[in-house]
Amino acid sequence: MSRNLKIWIAGASGRLGSALYRRFDRTEYDILTSDHDVPVGETNEVNRYADMNYPNVIINCSGLTDVRECERDPEHAYKVNALGARNLAIAARRIDAKLIQISTDDVFDGSASAPLNEFDAPHPITVYGKSKYAGEAFVRELTDKHVIVRSSWIYGSGTYDFVDDVLDRAARGETVSVPGDEISSPTSSDALAGFIHYLIQSKEFGLYHASCEGACSRSEFAREILRLGGYPDVPVESTVASAGDTPLRPKFTLLDNMMMRMTGIYKMPDWRDALARYLSARPSRNGGAK
Ligand SMILES: NC(=O)c1ccc[n+]([C@@H]2O[C@H](COP(=O)([O-])OP(=O)(O)OC[C@H]3O[C@@H](n4cnc5c(N)ncnc54)[C@H](OP(=O)(O)O)[C@@H]3O)[C@@H](O)[C@H]2O)c1
Repeated sequence: MSRNLKIWIAGASGRLGSALYRRFDRTEYDILTSDHDVPVGETNEVNRYADMNYPNVIINCSGLTDVRECERDPEHAYKVNALGARNLAIAARRIDAKLIQISTDDVFDGSASAPLNEFDAPHPITVYGKSKYAGEAFVRELTDKHVIVRSSWIYGSGTYDFVDDVLDRAARGETVSVPGDEISSPTSSDALAGFIHYLIQSKEFGLYHASCEGACSRSEFAREILRLGGYPDVPVESTVASAGDTPLRPKFTLLDNMMMRMTGIYKMPDWRDALARYLSARPSRNGGAK
């Protein structure tokens, strides 16, 4: 009989889920994966899957991450991001599994002017941010054996993302225009998967911020993608949202990994180094399609 640790990755086909899937050595871990085949918002489906498989660790990488879709259909956002986390927390408590819940810098309102640590009070302003914060609250209330990991601007293979979009626009000769007034830290899914791997082996619990080190605006991020991706001469146009537009993203959400620093358990790489590593390994794609 296998004595490997059994890990359930919910949302396994996404950016972070697929980085985790690639990461684990199958001689040490048994990996279970799910996406819409186990809809996290459906209580019975989640319970049935947990009872059938009895994972030791559940990593909740699922989410409705399309911020426009969240504003368009808040109930859908809450069902996946809040009820989904609740269902996984209830199941985790019943089967005594450790739950690692992935959350976001969008739980902050963007009005800060200094990096935000784990002791700063969240105040989400978007449906995405509110639904993710509600998911955090459910996890805290419903199961002791949890770690909540907040990260920012996650990119990586799995879901068509900002990096793909910038490179595809450049390849098609289109202008790359991005918000110039959003500040945070781009985080590679592989770098974040490294920290989550550490958490699985550790006895850590609680709340951690886990973004790559350093800060930039969206336009600086796009410029660095183009430079490293072989389009150094493609210009980046910075846009600013008009007054009255529904905010889709808070402006300033730079996370300070203060808990990591104080406990000394882990250090995230610099965002530029992580991006260079990702782009050097990324297969070239044809532009456009998801
Ligand atoms: N992307 C970011 O910048 C960012 C930043 C901070 C935190 N996060 C959080 O980190 C986690 C991972 O993010 P990511 O970028 O890897 O997201 P992602 O690429 O959008 O992946 C999310 C995964 O969840 C699946 N999913 C959606 N609805 C589901 C449902 N009802 N039941 C089960 N699975 C469902 C998606 O499947 P389909 O694609 O087929 O719908 C997808 O495979 C999410 O919880 C997200 O909120 C993301």
